[in-house]
Order: sequence, then structure tokens, then C-alpha cells
Amino acid sequence: MEQEKIKLQRVSRVYEIGKGSTIIAVEDVSFAVSAEEFVCIVGPSGCGKSTLLYLIACLEKPSAGEILIDGKPVTEPNPKVGMVFQPDSVFPWLTVRENIEFGPALRGILPSQRQRIAEYYVHLVGLEGFENTLPRQLSGGMKKRVDIARAFANNPEILLMDEPFGALDAMTKEKLQMELLQIWENERKTILFVTHDLEEALMLGTRVIVMSRQPNTIQTILDIPFPHPRSMILKTSSQFQEYRKKLWELLHLNV
Ligand SMILES: Nc1ncnc2c1ncn2[C@@H]1O[C@H](COP(=O)(O)OP(=O)(O)OP(=O)(O)O)[C@@H](O)[C@H]1O
Ligand SMILES: [Mg+2]
Repeated sequence: MEQEKIKLQRVSRVYEIGKGSTIIAVEDVSFAVSAEEFVCIVGPSGCGKSTLLYLIACLEKPSAGEILIDGKPVTEPNPKVGMVFQPDSVFPWLTVRENIEFGPALRGILPSQRQRIAEYYVHLVGLEGFENTLPRQLSGGMKKRVDIARAFANNPEILLMDEPFGALDAMTKEKLQMELLQIWENERKTILFVTHDLEEALMLGTRVIVMSRQPNTIQTILDIPFPHPRSMILKTSSQFQEYRKKLWELLHLNV
């Protein structure tokens, strides 16, 4: 059996919100993700999706249960783990190239090699010609591309993405979905991707975790059988539409 890259065992996170009252942000969540999976997480607002990512990144600690990466308990933020959030985290004072080279520079990678890494990812996300541009001169979709290139340039083994395309228009979003799919099809990182968008989850994921609200826990995990490489035309297939309906029903009728 394939080694489990990420494993959560009965993980809960409870927040004290004063006067003895508490909020259970994540309740008794268990699942495992193997190295080459692209797992999407969907669920109603407030069901604990972001908290789950923070827990795996060790930016939050579980109140109960255990999180393992490569079989070892997570006790501090792990350099193997990269994150992309919904707001842009590009540095406004650095050019596109400098933003992408920032992580590799921190890791002590030599300038000539850093340059090659930056060139490779600039090309993958289609930003050729904008290497020396500052973020304020870029559109929202272009900034998101810089963000994704930056995350991949750090060569993480695991990428946690929290609604990274949530703020984009439909066309830019589809383009970036395809670019992300292509990068994943080439590099096969472990990706955990939170989204509100059911079609996005079905388009990208090899599995989709469906969460419920109160209890903030896993309701179902769906295997997504569509073969790779995938393209947008998949959306027009009847099998895709069936899965879309199934996922919608799980979210709206079963909760
Ligand atoms: N630092 C915190 N202190 C107190 N409560 C929190 C904290 N972080 C999250 N919560 C609560 O935990 C629950 C889950 O929050 P979380 O942000 O993980 O949800 P989500 O699924 O990401 O929602 P959305 O889809 O709106 O982003 C919510 O009820 C939220 O109010
Ligand atoms: Mg969230």
C-alpha cells in the first residue's frame, strides 16, 4: 500500500470564546491522503475547512487527536508544506521574478539555480514577459499566478490551498484550474484544496471530502474517477453532471 502522506486521527479543535463558552471548529475528523493525491474539501461556510488546513500546517494545534505527515506526528510547521490562501500573499515591493525567487533564496539556493527555477515557473503559469513587473501592475488573476508559482518554487511536498481562486472571474478561474491541473499532472505533489465551487472540486480532485456543519466533521468522501489528463470539456459530459448532482445533494439535502 502507498505510504500515507498526511494522516488525521480523530482530530478536533475547540476554541474558547470567553465566559466558559466554546466553539467546536473541527470535530473528530479522520482521513488519510497518499502522496500523489489531489484532494478537494467542500462544505458549508463555518464547517471547519480553513481550520483543518491550519491544523495540518501546524499554524494551529489540535485540541484532541493526532496529525501525521510521512508517518511522524506534526509538532511544528514543516518546510515540506506550502500554503496558498485566498488573499494574495505576493510581496508588493518585489517584481514577479523576485517574488518567485524569494523562497528558494531563503533556502540558500544559488542565484543561477534560482533564476532557472523562476524561469521554469514563470513559463508554467504563463507570465513570460512580466518577470520584471511589480504586482500592482498585474491583474488579480496574474497575481494569483505569481502566488502559485511562488508556492511551487519552494518545492513543497504538500500544498495546502484555501479557496485560492475564490475571488476570480469565471474565465480566469478556469484558466488557472487548468494550469494547476497541468502542474499537478507533471509534478504529482500532494494537494489539499478547499473550495466552495462544486465544479472546481470535481474538475480538480481525485477525491472530494464533503464536510458538514455542526458537527463540523466529514460527512462523506467521494472518489472522483475521471481520468487524467483532464480538460474543461469534461464538464460537458453526463458523468460529470451526475457527480455534480450527487455532490450538490450531499451538501444540500443530507446535512
Ligand atoms: N480563532 C478562532 N476563534 C474562535 N472561533 C474560530 C476561530 N477560527 C475559526 N473559528 C470558528 O470555527 C468554525 C470553523 O471556521 P473555519 O474558518 O475553519 O470555517 P470554514 O469552513 O473555513 O468557513 P468558510 O467557508 O466561511 O471559509 C467557525 O464557526 C468559526 O467561527
Ligand atoms: Mg475558510
